[in-house]
Amino acid sequence: MIKFSDISKTFQVKNETVQALQHVSLTIQDGDIFGVIGFSGAGKSTLLRMVNALEVPTEGKVEIDGKNIDALSHNELRKVRKKIGMVFQQFNLLDSRTVYDNVAIPLRLNHTEQTAMHTTVTKLLEFVNLADKAAAYPPQLSGGQKQRVGIARALATNPSILLCDEATSALDPETTEQILQLLERINKELNITILIVTHEIQVIQRLCNRVAVMEHGRVVETGSVLEVFSNPQQPMTRRFVQTVIPDTIPNSVSNELKNETRNYKLVKMRFLGKNATENVLYHINTNYEVETGVLFATVCELQHTVLGIFIIQITGNEENIRQVLQYIDSLNLQWQEVHLS
Ligand SMILES: Nc1ncnc2c1ncn2[C@@H]1O[C@H](COP(=O)(O)OP(=O)(O)O)[C@@H](O)[C@H]1O
Ligand SMILES: [Mg+2]
Repeated sequence: MIKFSDISKTFQVKNETVQALQHVSLTIQDGDIFGVIGFSGAGKSTLLRMVNALEVPTEGKVEIDGKNIDALSHNELRKVRKKIGMVFQQFNLLDSRTVYDNVAIPLRLNHTEQTAMHTTVTKLLEFVNLADKAAAYPPQLSGGQKQRVGIARALATNPSILLCDEATSALDPETTEQILQLLERINKELNITILIVTHEIQVIQRLCNRVAVMEHGRVVETGSVLEVFSNPQQPMTRRFVQTVIPDTIPNSVSNELKNETRNYKLVKMRFLGKNATENVLYHINTNYEVETGVLFATVCELQHTVLGIFIIQITGNEENIRQVLQYIDSLNLQWQEVHLS
């Protein structure tokens, strides 16, 4: 378990004080793939780097399995760091060393015995599907291959935690998907807890089970990916989530609505799990004197659960619409009235 308790961090740059983190508290459970999302400068990397004490908090404490990282002796810290692998956006490989040697670096630093080292490196290169590139040099590799070398190197000391700083941000979408699949395997097959910071919301949606949203050094929202994506609370979270799960009426449709002369209301409904929209619309159409039309619909999958967002137009007289809204309200689903701007 990684626990950040009331972390603040200030940097002193000449006469200026930069507040990189302000009162951040987060808990990452063993087995999580925990994502931290935010724009550039939000404080993500600073937070991540505190896990292996590359940054030290100005206030607050970071604990790993109950141990305060900043109170460890030099020796203890070295042991803890062996249990933490790190992956970088720019890969940070040594261009003058082969793929094999890059992966072997942490093992050489730990004075691992030759045969054990060879076994580990060979196994890791197979795991990341680069066995045939062992003798190649990083400049000969694609971005995705370089990142797989970076990941193999991060796994060399058999860590229980993997820190990823924008691990896919330098990669195209297809390569990103390959790396995300690899990270998923690392979590599931090797039982490694992953903390990934990114400005790419697709990465969170595709990979993580939990998420924290950061803005100006603060965590503004956190929860399971399903909770946060299906019902984002903060404006910053909505901005991120809307780029992957749109939930507004398309312009062409709202323009058309401006010519609507009949009385109507717009309702946005969110379904989690079984998609029951058709039943709901059928019930409304058969039991109330109104007309319904679907203006917008999106369906996606989050953590193996289906999320459906529907905006429907209900046309009829005030009283009939009121009854329909009462019925929708009785359904135990998230809904709200939508107003055209
Ligand atoms: N070593 C440093 N010295 C001074 N300012 C820093 C340093 N590291 C980070 N910062 C500042 O802290 C803030 C957060 O940075 P960072 O954690 O890198 O954000 P992110 O990873 O979300 O882009 C930024 O304003 C950045 O300029
Ligand atoms: Mg960063």
